[in-house]
Amino acid sequence: MRPGFVWGAATSSYQIEGAVAEDGRGPSIWDTFAATPGKVDNGDTGEVAADHYHRYREDVALMADLGLGAYRFSVAWPRVQPLGSGAVDQRGLDFYRRLVDALLDKGIEPWPTLYHWDLPQPLEDAGGWPERDTALRFADYAAVVHEALADRVTHWTTLNEPWCSAFLGYATGRHAPGRREPAAAVRAAHHLLLGHGLAVRAMAGARVGVTLNLTTVSPRGPADADAARRIDGMQNRIFLDPLLRGSYPADVVDDLRGTTSFDHVRPDDLATISAPLDFLGVNYYSPMLVARSAVPTPSAYVGSPHVEMVDGGRARTSIGWEIDAGGLRDLLLRLRDEYPAVPLHITENGAAFDDSPHDTARIAYLADHLRACAEAIDLGVPLRGYFAWSLLDNFEWSYGYAQRFGLVHVDYATQRRTLKDSARWYADVIARGGELGSLQRVDDHTWERS
Ligand code: FCB
Repeated sequence: MRPGFVWGAATSSYQIEGAVAEDGRGPSIWDTFAATPGKVDNGDTGEVAADHYHRYREDVALMADLGLGAYRFSVAWPRVQPLGSGAVDQRGLDFYRRLVDALLDKGIEPWPTLYHWDLPQPLEDAGGWPERDTALRFADYAAVVHEALADRVTHWTTLNEPWCSAFLGYATGRHAPGRREPAAAVRAAHHLLLGHGLAVRAMAGARVGVTLNLTTVSPRGPADADAARRIDGMQNRIFLDPLLRGSYPADVVDDLRGTTSFDHVRPDDLATISAPLDFLGVNYYSPMLVARSAVPTPSAYVGSPHVEMVDGGRARTSIGWEIDAGGLRDLLLRLRDEYPAVPLHITENGAAFDDSPHDTARIAYLADHLRACAEAIDLGVPLRGYFAWSLLDNFEWSYGYAQRFGLVHVDYATQRRTLKDSARWYADVIARGGELGSLQRVDDHTWERS
């Protein structure tokens, strides 16, 4: 990779911090959801998580050992504004000031994300993201955090994966707040986008981006082309088009006609949403293969019940996601070809495996995806950075602690951190400026240094 390429790792507040009732933090929708029986595997919650709130210094030292150039973390809105609006708790902001200072002290660039799904519960009680007011509250909160950290943070990300917030949170109910209201989910998607646009305005002068979870969507066969178009519309274009082209895709609006009339969209909203981005964050894990289904199935893809996900026959990670590194290259090329040029950063990419510290499968996954990035760059994609998901094993949402994505193993009983082989391998890649060539692939799950 070129000099200046950003090498990082990512985490998020609810997944690692713990300390959910400390220093005035208010409850978030994930506290409520995780406390509801049956919502999270094994009844796990983020109450303690990786105890990063207390161990951030140790974690920053680990990052420095790995040679990370940047660290992507998220700010917990309910630490900053326990009620989601109004009063600001300085103790919450102080935590992020200390974290940012510790990072800068080690020469690691802080990359905060303002919203990685932990909405203050009082805002959900008032209706949540389906309500326009939540977008306005988000912009106020963004301005508060920006003012507190602007002197030491350069790159800001507004939202992480609004698709998950809207469609897992309000359509399937797999994520907090666990509602199953398709029309509300579409409104939520719009108000997340609007919140992003208003936040960009509120943080005038900052370099701001947004992170989307994008993927390749392929039809199983010729008869499935319309199914693929629909899923691509609801997964990728419903966010990309408003942000980068200033309009909703006409076919998606059409598909959603029976679900919502889009009367929640006000005349100036799309101009606000499409304010120029300084970068686009791309989270990529897995490809999608889709088919038309005879039987209607409710899913996150509201408005398109006659569509199903099918097995692509590829190897899977322990969470069940198919592995396709070529999909990352294809996705990046598509962004280059179909959307106005904007610098890109991979803000998440990684794999869950039931691993020992000798996690060769994770090394293989990361190496293949980094090769895909290098290919895309060679083909002219303006990719400027890569953040591995995740620095640490952590609370993997509705899967709880069973799924481990970390480069660093966390023993939850003792909170002991242990570098996995992938962490050492990644440190080596960073030290070589992205040079992957010194590694030889033995088989699908084994890599050796030559
Ligand atoms: C993404 C989330 C992140 C993590 C990974 C595995 O969808 O942004 O928090 O859970 O998946």
